[in-house]
Amino acid sequence: MQFTMRKRNSRLIGLLFWSGGLTRSRQHPVLTSGFSFTHFRQASFLRQRWTRSLPKGSCWRDFFSSLKGLHDGSVYPSGMSVALVLAHAIHDLKDIEDEQATVSVTNILADVLGLPWTTGYKDLTWIATNQHAIPQHLAELACRLLTEQEAEELTDKLQRRKRQEPIQYIIGKWDFLDYTFRVRAPLLCPRPETEELVELVAQEIAENPSIQHILDVGCGTGCIGISLAAKFPYLHVSAIDLEPVAVQTSQENALQVLGSQWKEQYDAQLCTAQDLVVDRRFDLVVSNPPYIPSEDMKELDKEVKDYESHQALSGLSEDGLDVIRDIIEKLPYWCYASATCWMEVDPSQPAILRELLACHPHVAFVSSHFDMFGKERFVKLKVHHI
Ligand SMILES: C[S@@+](CC[C@H](N)C(=O)[O-])C[C@H]1O[C@@H](n2cnc3c(N)ncnc32)[C@H](O)[C@@H]1O
Repeated sequence: MQFTMRKRNSRLIGLLFWSGGLTRSRQHPVLTSGFSFTHFRQASFLRQRWTRSLPKGSCWRDFFSSLKGLHDGSVYPSGMSVALVLAHAIHDLKDIEDEQATVSVTNILADVLGLPWTTGYKDLTWIATNQHAIPQHLAELACRLLTEQEAEELTDKLQRRKRQEPIQYIIGKWDFLDYTFRVRAPLLCPRPETEELVELVAQEIAENPSIQHILDVGCGTGCIGISLAAKFPYLHVSAIDLEPVAVQTSQENALQVLGSQWKEQYDAQLCTAQDLVVDRRFDLVVSNPPYIPSEDMKELDKEVKDYESHQALSGLSEDGLDVIRDIIEKLPYWCYASATCWMEVDPSQPAILRELLACHPHVAFVSSHFDMFGKERFVKLKVHHI
């Protein structure tokens, strides 16, 4: 079951972030290739535009000395053109990220300039990667000069990115499948693998119209449950999380994605898997629980370890299965007989779960599924009545 209209090609952008980058050229044309006549003409055109915006008496030397300061302090002066900002910021960020630098800078600058969400970063990417031949329709944007307020905001946001804060927190939103979700620290930033989990669940719902009421355990931003509710307007999704910011943010996202009638389809409550008692049973449970084994927490990238909630990441125990075990034990109490449960897990866990459930009286292991990186990432379980 494919979600059709990818508004910003979120999976491609996501892949660049979470897999260390796949497709982009390692070199920036302006900063690393030979400086051609076209570059010279463009630089002098930009210089003219820039110096014109300076106070009377300033000259071209001010232009070059401000550029010199950019590399160490990363302070972006007002009056600098979009094209020049892009070239410098991408070069500057390459110390901390390689292929992703263009993605970070174009997203941050599009946000600062208030460009349209679906096209702004793409236009800036065009300008950044084709500086020697900027198309006519983007020339005005390329030459636009930053105001003082924009320059300050850009400086601040790029410095946050240099400290490896996730881009999603800096711009406050991100796409997941066909929808845009508000993302706040320290909630888990929606991942492309989780989009695949939702597609697997969506396929099962599409094939079984009797699935009407589902539970999302550990909703975070609400990306799983809300995407399913948006895809199937007859579905009701209940969601739980132990973080108040998750409940609050998922409700805001439900309003944004599902519209003013969101309460008819979505409810979120502050509750742990251990404590949840239900007054009506579910047809399906879905969860991307905290599952990282305790040893592996040390190996996480700074971007993840220093910013995202450890309650969202860590499965607490050595095998990382603490919350997953809680969910499994509660399934027979939450669900109708024959209900299914889909979970995203660590690739080390399907084998352990298969063994653990071999002699479980009420929950059976049905199948495991691989993600786009070839990792055994998802499990499907089936519930029998107590
Ligand atoms: C890996 S994040 C998933 C967030 C979101 N569903 C997603 O896929 O982006 C796990 C979420 O589970 C929540 N959580 C952790 N332990 C929990 C528990 N025992 N009961 C309910 N939620 C829990 C965390 O606060 C976090 O929001």
